[in-house]
Amino acid sequence: MEMTRRGFIGGALALAAAWRTGDAKAEAPAPAPAASASGGIDPRFAVLISDVHVPLPWSEQQYRTGREYPWLMGQIERFVAELLALRPRPSHVFCLGDVSLAFSEEREYELAAKLFQPLEDAGVKLVATVGNHDLREPFMKHLGKWTGGPSPVPGRVVSVTHLPDFDFVLLDSLKEPKPDQRGKYGALTKCELGDGQKKWLEEMLASATRPVILGAHHSAHQLGLAKTIARSPKVFGFIHGHNHKWDQAYLHAGYSDCEPIVRMQGLPSFGIDRDVGYALLRSLPDRAELKYVARDYYFPAKVADADRLPLWDDIVRDNTGRRVSFPFVK
Ligand SMILES: [Fe+2]
Repeated sequence: MEMTRRGFIGGALALAAAWRTGDAKAEAPAPAPAASASGGIDPRFAVLISDVHVPLPWSEQQYRTGREYPWLMGQIERFVAELLALRPRPSHVFCLGDVSLAFSEEREYELAAKLFQPLEDAGVKLVATVGNHDLREPFMKHLGKWTGGPSPVPGRVVSVTHLPDFDFVLLDSLKEPKPDQRGKYGALTKCELGDGQKKWLEEMLASATRPVILGAHHSAHQLGLAKTIARSPKVFGFIHGHNHKWDQAYLHAGYSDCEPIVRMQGLPSFGIDRDVGYALLRSLPDRAELKYVARDYYFPAKVADADRLPLWDDIVRDNTGRRVSFPFVK
């Protein structure tokens, strides 16, 4: 049976609602604070988005991207509206980088601020960090109020958010291209934490008293963090963007007996291509849980329904409702 977009949206909203109601009663060992006590906001519920890639019309691009995405702005607006329609509302929306389409044009961040403002107006806190397509200066100029407060690492967009049962730490994995490389895709392929951020992370993990879930635009493997994470007694998950793919991996430090593993999860894009959608994050006393709201799949471009490959619908169907659990045990 062919599933329509409307079918996906209806199905995913129903799944999201069921997950936060019926499922929650069976799974939550302790009652969460009542959402009604905090203006309809559930402090144990957040949303993760990544790779927003806010587009400029061709005519406004200073640096040519070589491709237009005519569906993308409307798609982002619809997704923001969906997040606002969630009941109860999430306390936070975390954005794991790549707000810019490609080359970090300031106008893209102006548009992003307009797209995200309704979240703030609804009392939902946006906490964002940067990806390889971003530059910190225009990002901070327009989105700086949505980075989770002053960064603990100077010059980096890093945040620590205290959720009810764990701390969610967003790292800054951007290695900015040299100014003379601006506008070249080849200059966007690197990533790094930098010495200052690595030192801060080490110290933060050494003194952590609560469970920690780490997030960054790039994967733990790309950042050389797999062993650090697996061996840290306090890190129980790693979540990243960049690949526009809902995919899982297991981080471990070696092959000795009883080697701990930590789950790593990749997020979909917020509308540009490949896996498209967002993830619902739940804070529970003994674990964090992530659920994929799979909205679509298309590559390399969104096309009319009649031209869709059947495989794209299979991918969406197979991913719908997939859940990843991050237990606080090693
Ligand atoms: Fe990226």
